[in-house]
Amino acid sequence: MNEISETLTIRQPDDWHVHFRDGAMLAAVAGLTARQFARAIVMPNLMPPVTSVAAASAYRERILAALPLGAHFTPLMTCYLTDEADADEVGRGFAEGAYAAVKYYPAHATTHSAQGVTAVGCVTKVFERMQEIGMPLLIHGEVTDPDVDIFDREAVFIERTLAPLLADFPALKVVLEHVTTADAVDFVRAQDGRLGATVTAHHLMINRNALLVGGIRPHLYCLPVAKRERHRLALRGATTSGEASFFLGTDSAPHALDAKETDCGCAGIFTAASALELYAGVFAEDGALDQLEAFASLNGPGFYGLPVNEQTVTLARRPWTVPDTVPVAGSQPVKPFLAGEIVDWRMVED
Ligand code: DOR
Ligand code: ZN
Repeated sequence: MNEISETLTIRQPDDWHVHFRDGAMLAAVAGLTARQFARAIVMPNLMPPVTSVAAASAYRERILAALPLGAHFTPLMTCYLTDEADADEVGRGFAEGAYAAVKYYPAHATTHSAQGVTAVGCVTKVFERMQEIGMPLLIHGEVTDPDVDIFDREAVFIERTLAPLLADFPALKVVLEHVTTADAVDFVRAQDGRLGATVTAHHLMINRNALLVGGIRPHLYCLPVAKRERHRLALRGATTSGEASFFLGTDSAPHALDAKETDCGCAGIFTAASALELYAGVFAEDGALDQLEAFASLNGPGFYGLPVNEQTVTLARRPWTVPDTVPVAGSQPVKPFLAGEIVDWRMVED
C-alpha cells in the first residue's frame, strides 16, 4: 500500500453472495456489482426459485444481458435446494458448469424461502452426490423453530443442524453464509478449513442498536439480523485477520422502497452501490488494509478451487456521498445502505 497517497491496489475481488433479482431490478443493480467485482455467486431465491439447470442457464443469460456494455463480469449460478431436488440433475448442472454451488435455505427462514428444505433427511441423496463431486453447499444458517429467539437462531442452527451435517457428510464443502455471531466465528475456525464463511460489509459495520435505537430503521433490517456489539467485533477480528476460511460476500439484497417502508418490511440490505469501498473502510479503521486482498480476492477462490483474478482494482481514500436512491424502471427505487452519507474509500480507475 502507498501510505502517502493512501491508495491501495489489489487483485480484483469477487462477491461470493449477492442477490440480483430479475427484470427491472436486475437491470438496476447488476452493473453496480460488475463495477467492483469480477465474479459473483448469484442467489437463486427468485419467484419461482432457480431449481433446474435450464432455469439457471436462462437466468445467467438475463444477467449477462443486463450488464453495461463492455462489462467483464462472470455470474456464478446456484441451485435452490428443495426437498424434491434430484441428485442427478444437481450433479449434471455442476458438471456442465451451469451451477457453481447449491443454496440451502431452511424452509421459511428468509425472503422467498418457502420452498426451501424442511429437513436435512429429505436431501441426503443430493448431499452424498455433492460430496462425491466436490460441489459446495451454501447455507443460510438459521433455525426456523418459533420457540427460538431470532437473535439465537444462527447459534442454534450451528448446534442442531450444521454440526451434525458436517459429521454426516465429512467430505462436503460447506459455506456458512453471512455469519453474524462470535459462535459462528469460533465454529468456522474449529473446522480447519473445510467450512468457509462469508461476511457482509453491513454486519461488520452495525450492531442491533443501529436498527432499534432512536427509531426503527427498516433499511438496516436483514436476515440474519444484526447482533450485539461483541458479535460484530468477533466478525471484524476474523475478517481483518485475513484468515483463509473467511471471505467477502455482500448479501446485497435490493428491495423496492415500498417493500421496506411498510407494516411488514422485507429483510435485506442493499450494499451493491458501495460494497468494496465499505469493506475497505472497515479494514482501514482496523489498521488492516494489508489483509483486504486476502479477504476480498484470495480466500474465496481458494475455497472454491477457482483461479484468482489477474486484473487489479485501486481504492483511494477519496470521500464520496452514497446516492439517496438507485432508480428502478417502473417501480419504486431502492435505498442503498448509508444513503446520503459519506464513505471514505472509493474505487478509482487503475
Ligand atoms: O436479509 C436478507 N435478504 N437475508 C436473506 O437471507 C435473503 C435476502 C433477500 O433475498 O432479500
Ligand atoms: Zn442472501
